[in-house]
Amino acid sequence: MTDATAPTLFTWEFASDPYPAYAWLREHAPVRRTTLPSGVDAWLVTRYADARQALADARLSKNPVHHSEQAAHAKGKVGIPGERGAELMTHLLNIDPPDHTRLRRLVSKAFTPRRTAAFEPRVQELTRGLIDAFAARGSADLIHEFAFPLPIYAICDLLGVPAEDQDDFRDWAGAMIRHGGGPRGGVARAVKRMRSYLLELIHRKRADLGDDLISGLIRASDHGEHLTENEAAAMAFILLFAGFETTVNLIGNGTYALLRHPVQRALLQDALAAGDSALLDTAIEELLRWDGPVEIATWRFATEPLTLGGQRIGEGEPVLVVLAAADRDPGRFAGPDTLDLARRDNPHLGFGHGIHYCLGAPLARLEGRTALAQLLTRLPDLQLAQNPEDLRWRGGLIMRGLRTLPVTFSADT
Ligand code: HEM
Repeated sequence: MTDATAPTLFTWEFASDPYPAYAWLREHAPVRRTTLPSGVDAWLVTRYADARQALADARLSKNPVHHSEQAAHAKGKVGIPGERGAELMTHLLNIDPPDHTRLRRLVSKAFTPRRTAAFEPRVQELTRGLIDAFAARGSADLIHEFAFPLPIYAICDLLGVPAEDQDDFRDWAGAMIRHGGGPRGGVARAVKRMRSYLLELIHRKRADLGDDLISGLIRASDHGEHLTENEAAAMAFILLFAGFETTVNLIGNGTYALLRHPVQRALLQDALAAGDSALLDTAIEELLRWDGPVEIATWRFATEPLTLGGQRIGEGEPVLVVLAAADRDPGRFAGPDTLDLARRDNPHLGFGHGIHYCLGAPLARLEGRTALAQLLTRLPDLQLAQNPEDLRWRGGLIMRGLRTLPVTFSADT
């Protein structure tokens, strides 16, 4: 029976390299009911075709009211937003149409690809400033000194958080990333502070609208309907929350992958030195596929019994789509375990799929491109300062990222 050889999931060993376990699941039990470390049972979906189908299936709700009794009791344990801080939790990733459609349309009017493109010089400048701070030292922890601050400052700038308040956000975001997604303890405090800050900021901006994204959210209207202050605060919060740790991990996992693949990295460095950015574009997509920031998509709950990959899923049961497994499916990708920065046929699920497809993808790509290009150009002999086996990964269920990434390089003065 296949179960005798089933891998153990969610251990430290698994966290450092989950891909062999996912390969087993994809082959032997592609839709499998699993007990998570929190004690909650959920279905893990690991094949590409099933994953895509599940992400677009309207019978799988994002609204936690649809989860079954068992998950309801355990929701605090697994980081499903509970009652505390509930106002901020009524955001895009926790709602279904028609509310989702209305709110997403409103935010899309303010958070346009054009706004992101116009933001590029600022991202370049922020990136340069962060590298300047450690370039002369010859060593750095790229997570704490680079991957972590870049997205937080970028999103704060974009939203219109004044410079003098941005370090508060850095602290709150730090508390959220350290303690994981659960709305408890340090996280609950950080979320509460962020909420009162955002509400006050929205209030101030309403009286003095500017050019920033929060002003854009206040201004955005749909058939004469505007976001309420609570909705605008929840929207600002999800932009911070969804856009922060994900981008940290794109820069962290991406740099780490390049450091461990010297031939691929040399190709990219040569292309950048020649002023050719086409390889950088495909490289970002490949890094998202090969070891992406979001290992498992956020929670979904069956609103009615349904069949997926031959398994019967009951009403109220949680479904977790394992993006990291789907994106290494040999049924969709040629040589899926090989990192090929020039890969062209690459419809990865790293940004999700369907109506919840990542709203911040253009910003994430801009930050990832800028960060990697500047790092590789300014610190061309960048190397890992620690044994890969000793690197620690964060243990969360949804995100995949390193705790630290110590590097050395010839000082750039
Ligand atoms: C949704 C990935 C960066 C904002 C998602 C989803 C994924 C994802 C997989 C869908 C989750 C699901 O369906 O369960 C990523 C990755 C990023 C990134 C890999 C970085 C490399 C950002 C940024 C922002 C952002 C920078 C905004 C500033 C959002 C929002 C949603 C979302 C608002 C919810 C959309 C909806 O429900 O309609 N992201 N994201 N993301 N992302 Fe991102």
